Amino acid sequence: MDSRDYDFLVDEAIRVRRNAYVPYSGYSVGAAVMTDNGIFKGCNVENQSYGLTICAERNAVFSAVAAGERHIRAIAIVGSFRGEEITDYAYPCGACRQVIAEFSDSDTVVIVAKSVDDYKIHTMAELLPECFTFLS
Ligand code: THU
Repeated sequence: MDSRDYDFLVDEAIRVRRNAYVPYSGYSVGAAVMTDNGIFKGCNVENQSYGLTICAERNAVFSAVAAGERHIRAIAIVGSFRGEEITDYAYPCGACRQVIAEFSDSDTVVIVAKSVDDYKIHTMAELLPECFTFLS
């Protein structure tokens, strides 16, 4: 993976963020997962019950898994209040970190982006050290 892959993945996350369903928080998130075989996207989908809201990252990971994928090379995340301007680096919540970790290895990269020209790159080990596992 090189910087062109990262740019492409960030762009996909920016695009899918536009579909976020956020009538309650107004905070739109897009996530794009790159596996060994393709790109899978998700946005956050809120619910009137609040607790049933699902994050963009988990929607993207579950979409990849439903397609038969089991290994995440990289995930790009873009989040900000509604509108095109992205002012934050949106880091994945704890629940999403654990779900991403399930399909990660030591090379898996997490990209938090404001634009294709402005993003930060992390490893899953940085974002979720000592994560839960019962496998050695
Ligand atoms: N959200 C995500 O999509 N990903 C995260 O990692 C944290 C939060 C969503 C859930 C909710 O729709 C909105 O952001 C505000 O919390």
